[in-house]
Amino acid sequence: NWSANWKRIVAGVLTGTGAVLTYGLLYQEVEQADAGLPTTEKRSSLPVFSHDEISKHRSLEDGVWVTYKGGVYDITEFVPMHPGGNKILLAAGGALEPFWALYAVHDQEYVLEILSQYKVGELSVEDLKKQHNAKASDPYSSDPERHPVLRVNSKKPFNAEPPPEILTENYITPHVLFFKRNHLPVPQVDPVSYRLQVEGLPKGALTLSLKDLKTRFPKHTVTATLQCAGNRRSDMNKVKQVKGLNWGISAIGNAKWSGARLRDVLLAAGFGPEVAKWARHVHFEGLDKDVSGSAYGTSIPINKAMNEDGDVLLAYEMNGEDIPADHGFPVRVVVPGVVGARNVKWLGRIVVSTEESSSHWQQLDYKGFSPGTDWSKVDHASSPAIQELPVQSAITIPADGAEIDRSDETLTVKGYAWSGGGREVVRVDVSLDGGKTWQVAQLRSGDKGQPDEPSPPPGRAWAWKLWELTAPLPPDADELEIICKAVDNSYNVQPDSIPPIWNLRGLLSNAWHRVKVKVTED
Ligand code: MTE
Repeated sequence: NWSANWKRIVAGVLTGTGAVLTYGLLYQEVEQADAGLPTTEKRSSLPVFSHDEISKHRSLEDGVWVTYKGGVYDITEFVPMHPGGNKILLAAGGALEPFWALYAVHDQEYVLEILSQYKVGELSVEDLKKQHNAKASDPYSSDPERHPVLRVNSKKPFNAEPPPEILTENYITPHVLFFKRNHLPVPQVDPVSYRLQVEGLPKGALTLSLKDLKTRFPKHTVTATLQCAGNRRSDMNKVKQVKGLNWGISAIGNAKWSGARLRDVLLAAGFGPEVAKWARHVHFEGLDKDVSGSAYGTSIPINKAMNEDGDVLLAYEMNGEDIPADHGFPVRVVVPGVVGARNVKWLGRIVVSTEESSSHWQQLDYKGFSPGTDWSKVDHASSPAIQELPVQSAITIPADGAEIDRSDETLTVKGYAWSGGGREVVRVDVSLDGGKTWQVAQLRSGDKGQPDEPSPPPGRAWAWKLWELTAPLPPDADELEIICKAVDNSYNVQPDSIPPIWNLRGLLSNAWHRVKVKVTED
């Protein structure tokens, strides 16, 4: 690891080769110290600081200093630009390593490049050695096993998606292939001692066990597609670098969720006409907590929660089985038609409130911005939290760059299409010539060769449609640009290109999906 990181640092540091060499010497010294050897050798020209000195710099007033692998960094100027907001202050005055172990999204070259600009000194060898000894045990060691076919975007926390060509093989996505989006380690929850707290209602708190949820409320099943706000972020990255995991087109999946309706639980907890007068939001908190003890949390509008047709579930089953650990065992919220981020897993607490959740994920992330907004001028309070998602579609077959044999004569294009807010996809248009001409794809709501699921009532089309088009190969073309775009029943269409919808976090990436394939002679 040390040598891998060392290479990373060499690659990442744009300036300060001296500092890198110093780091090498420093590491050598620590090794010697570990072996009980004397460590008197002098190091770089940068000043050496003790942990006590560094720990005095824990605020914007006193400066924000951190250490990383023996280097000391004054990151005061960077704090307002940190995508994770003020959370960075948790590390102030100490080591970054334990935080980066939890938020391994930092383990990237460009992050080290940014950090290197703020280097002001070296940590004393004694304190560096102490840090090594105090290395926390890996908080991800109890994460579940995952299927090796998944394309991993980050290991810790675990974020992965299936290969596109496998994604649309099934109308109902098997849980092993369902994308996994975790911000923190997967909590281990004992289903017997599990308790869900429902708060904010006049009757006082209601505490429910898993058994209560299963026996006191009718079981309701909904087929719903879940899509991450960052799905297709990689398309935005191709236009201009954004911050976030580089999701392809498969941060989306469709499952059968079963559980108690949130509405029924809130009614049992005392929701009534009096509460309806003031209640505006419902907060959800997960049992996954960060180092500061704050839980993953978000909220949805009360109307969605209480609407009989909203179909919001406290789900305990996914595809007819207990919800798997990665997807929220034993209970998760399923908010059909709404961005994945609000579908809180490992649900621990529900609060009915006059206000939106104050959590980072509601206030400082999962919001859309103008392409003209950059990190220096972003004002999160100026944008609403993303709830319903816009219309989306993508081509899963053929893959970008695939080779098609001219003797095949026909070409089959496949993909998925979905829209948020219960709006049904009514058409998918496909072009094989870069958008000059279009053909209408066939839609289906079931597995191939099987009857479609019954049509959803108006406004409750929560599940995606799979689509397919088989068309003659255009003669003489050596390369095809294949495009798809979906239309929902409000006649919303996807924008034709990314630049006008580009945003600094790479969210809501739903432009026409394009793949290029080569036509070759066998
Ligand atoms: N709930 C908790 N408790 N912790 C999380 O990290 N991630 C959210 C949401 N619910 C998250 C969570 C996000 S951003 C998404 S897109 C979905 O879960 C992903 O759900 P999945 O992993 O079941 O696909």
